[in-house]
Amino acid sequence: MLRKIDKNIWIAEQPLKYFGLSVGTRMTVIRFNNGELAVISPIQVDDETTEQLNQLGNVKYIIAPNLFHYLFLSNFKAVYPQSKVYAVSALKAKRPEISIDQALEDNGENLLGELECLLFEGFKTFLPSGALPLNEYIFFHAESKTLVLTDTAFYFDETFPMTTKIVSQIMGGYKKFRPSLLEQLATQEKEKVKQSVQKVLRWDFRRVIVAHGSIVEHDAKKQFKEGYEWFLGESL
Ligand SMILES: [Fe+2]
Repeated sequence: MLRKIDKNIWIAEQPLKYFGLSVGTRMTVIRFNNGELAVISPIQVDDETTEQLNQLGNVKYIIAPNLFHYLFLSNFKAVYPQSKVYAVSALKAKRPEISIDQALEDNGENLLGELECLLFEGFKTFLPSGALPLNEYIFFHAESKTLVLTDTAFYFDETFPMTTKIVSQIMGGYKKFRPSLLEQLATQEKEKVKQSVQKVLRWDFRRVIVAHGSIVEHDAKKQFKEGYEWFLGESL
């Protein structure tokens, strides 16, 4: 079910477990002035959500924002066959069976006119197979002053189950908006990340929508800056 966040921006959520931990996941829907919709980080689409989306506009763009949030792309595309799938080009090598219409890299930093984006360079996370790059694009919707992140920061709070609270207290991201220790340890190219963070801080955002955790509605830019100062180990 979609929930309106601000003018021309909605979210929908679904439960998700990551290595046994309830972290949930969230997609973001942006409506452009021409009535076209962009869906960032799609979740499993159901009849109710489809009906709501159809009332809002025309689903035109389905965006996999990084190398990990692609699970429901094909499902969404099947419901909206006229839409275009955007993803980082490296996803073609990782999941060749997924049909990608356009690489995010081919659009520069102004994806669709009303939605800016940039590649968050250098950022990695740890998985059992080792430290892996996320290749995440992050987005800025100027009309609602909203930043949309996927796996580059988390914000868990008291609304999450006890185990999630405990683990995020240990790993980072509990009532502090930031990446976790896993990403801090996995990321070696801190200078690249710093440059990306500085670009993000040029955007005038007041809110951050994350894929995992609660939406950051207060002091979002200050919290983002402080979270990445912790991550980088220096002042920004
Ligand atoms: Fe994720």
